[in-house]
This record gives sequence, C-alpha cells and structure tokens, in this order.
Amino acid sequence: MSMISECAPAKINLALHVTGRRADGYHLLESLVTFTDTGDQLSFSPASTDGFSVSGRFAGNVPREGNAGGDNLVVKARDMLRSVLAGAGLAAPPVHIHLEKNLPVASGIGGGSADAAATLRGVMRLWEIPAGAVDLPTLALRLGADVPMCLAGTPLIARGIGEAIEPLRGLPSFAMVLANPLQPVSTPDVFQALESKANAPLSLPGELIEAAAWIAAIGNLRNDLEAPASRLVAEIAVISGLLAGQGATLVRMSGSGATCFGIFSDSAQAKAAEAALLSIRPDWYFQATTTISGAQACRA
Ligand code: C5P
Repeated sequence: MSMISECAPAKINLALHVTGRRADGYHLLESLVTFTDTGDQLSFSPASTDGFSVSGRFAGNVPREGNAGGDNLVVKARDMLRSVLAGAGLAAPPVHIHLEKNLPVASGIGGGSADAAATLRGVMRLWEIPAGAVDLPTLALRLGADVPMCLAGTPLIARGIGEAIEPLRGLPSFAMVLANPLQPVSTPDVFQALESKANAPLSLPGELIEAAAWIAAIGNLRNDLEAPASRLVAEIAVISGLLAGQGATLVRMSGSGATCFGIFSDSAQAKAAEAALLSIRPDWYFQATTTISGAQACRA
C-alpha cells in the first residue's frame, strides 16, 4: 500500500447558539457548520515504526508526539483507533503521518479536530479497514466534541455538545476571508466567560434558495461565544472591523475564536480583501477561501 493523502478543511461555525449546559459541564449548542475547500494536509505512509512529522506555516505550534502523548490529536486519533481495532482482532501496522499545518492552532476553525478526523479517515484507508468495522463517530467524539462534525465534513447542523449531526442540504458555497490575530484562545476559558448559558435555539426559514437569502437568514443568527471571546481577546473586535471595512456582507467569529470570517460577493472580492488586509496587518492571518456546498472533498 503506498502513501495516502487526506485534507483537513477548516470548520466554519456560520452560527453557534449555546442553549444549555449538561450536568458534566459541557454546553449544549446548536450550530450551523460548513467547511472550506482548503485547510491542513495529511499524508499516511507505511513505515517500520510509527512516526509523526509536521511542516507548514503553523508547524511550530503543533505539540510533538513525545509531549506526554496527550495534546497531539493526530497521534491520539491513530492510537485510539489502533486500540479499538486490536480489540476487534484487526491489524494496524506502523504508519508515518505527515501533517502540513496551514491553519492557525486554537483558533475556532477546528484545526486540531479536523486533523484528528482526517487521521481516522486516512489510517482506515491505509490499513484497509472495512467502513462498518469501527464506530468512527463514537470514536471521534472521544477525541473531542468537534471531531464528529469534522468527520462528516459536509454542511450540517450540530446539536448536543456537537455530536448530534443533521446534514444540511442546499447551503450554497460562500467566498470568504478567514482572519485571525494569531492569539490562541482557550475554548474552556471562553465557555466559562459566557454569561447566559440558555439562549434561544437556532431557527432557519423553510425555503432558502438564493445565497443572499441564506446570508440574510444567517445574519439573524448569532455566535453566542463571540461576546465572551471578545472580552478575552480585544483584537477580535478589531479584526471584525477590518473585515467589515473591506465590504464583507456578513462578519462573524467562528467557534470559540479568535478566527472571524467575512463573506464576500465572489472569490475575486475575497482575494482582493485578503491582499488589502495583509497590507494593513502583515503579521496577522488572512486567508481567502471558499466553503463547500455539498459532499465535495477539499483539495488534498
Ligand atoms: O471536546 P473538546 O476537548 O473539544 O472541548 C474542550 C473544552 O471546551 C471542554 O473541556 C469544555 O470545557 C468546553 N466545551 C463545552 N461545551 C462543548 C464543547 C466544548 O463546554 N459543547
């Protein structure tokens, strides 16, 4: 078996409503989620011993394999899948995993969760495990609340703590710019700073077809984590203002931040905004991208 590639697209929470809290402290949410057609890239090769290497703009922020084995979700996903397979008597030989880390870490666009989901997909293919042999969504949830949605990888509404997934048909593709001030944000800190834990659920009008109607409907929704995250990271308000100043029709924070997205009328406008924003703040992260509209794979 030769090398296998998988991409790990950025996860965009177009809206995120926090509707309650579970007894274990996890928050119940309702989130409208889509994915970009670009992101991190992973490759999986047969090897004589397990290995992990990393390259790319944000390689320096990725915990290495030796780091208590704990923080690296790629290594964790590989090891967890292997132990489940061992229980089922299935072989999981050594694998070298390379991660090209293009997405900023701890940034609200699911980088680590997307990498974990891509690892599950990639090693399943490398080890030629039949799809039904493992309950991947359950395994994904053990890796993190956002990993099941990243495993799905298509437009969806997530409920529960993120694991109850309803596919969303008809969501158009959006040209957007992702913007991040390169300040890592701790998700637990943001949830802790959230004042109201029981907000109105997410509701969408029944008949949405045109992109403009979708954007208007999404505009009526919220990210309940934006206010608490903005209190922790002042740059979130600054970066939102920069996106709006470039003519974005909708600006919002994704996940627990700090990445914000601006939706633009087309890819050319998004590219122009990316260039303008980079000239204003060359030290920050600005990435023009396009979200997927259906079960379309990102480019590996
Ligand atoms: O599951 P994950 O490791 O991604 O979650 C990180 C932290 O974010 C959790 O320990 C919890 O504090 C918080 N969280 C939450 N409610 C969610 C998802 C995450 O409170 N639905």
